[in-house]
Amino acid sequence: MAAIALTINGKSATVEAEPDTPLLWVVREHLKLTGTKFGCGSGLCGACTVHIDGKAMRSCQLSVSQVAGKKVTTIEGLSPNGTHALQKAWVAEQVPQCGYCQSGQIMQAAALLAVNKKPSRDQIVAHMDGNICRCGTYPRIVRAIQRAAKEA
Ligand code: FES
Ligand code: FES
Repeated sequence: MAAIALTINGKSATVEAEPDTPLLWVVREHLKLTGTKFGCGSGLCGACTVHIDGKAMRSCQLSVSQVAGKKVTTIEGLSPNGTHALQKAWVAEQVPQCGYCQSGQIMQAAALLAVNKKPSRDQIVAHMDGNICRCGTYPRIVRAIQRAAKEA
């Protein structure tokens, strides 16, 4: 066990964990932030997407020791009260079906809009390519990102 310090959603935290514990486990089990989901555990679905220093990354593929000293943002920290332009657009477009993949989708999309405020449809599709939705909400996801880009 080691004490590992990181910043989670703007607050400092220290977790006691084996250094090779997946960040996803630390987020869900140690920090009790359960918006981030376990999908495949193999880096293939994007359900576990969080931001590390602003970049969208798969938390199942990172050990907690790899993010020591870094800024981790989960869906709970994307905006203080759920009013990020994407969260509002997701509601307006009624994107979720079962909802399981959606926090990962939003975190992936937020990383795009942070660097490209007016992405083209092709850029959106390319950026979102690795985030799987078993319910097939892809057309609504694209529409919601376009809406957020327009309204932001
Ligand atoms: S759970 Fe991490 S990519 Fe699927
Ligand atoms: S809404 Fe069900 S997996 Fe995406």
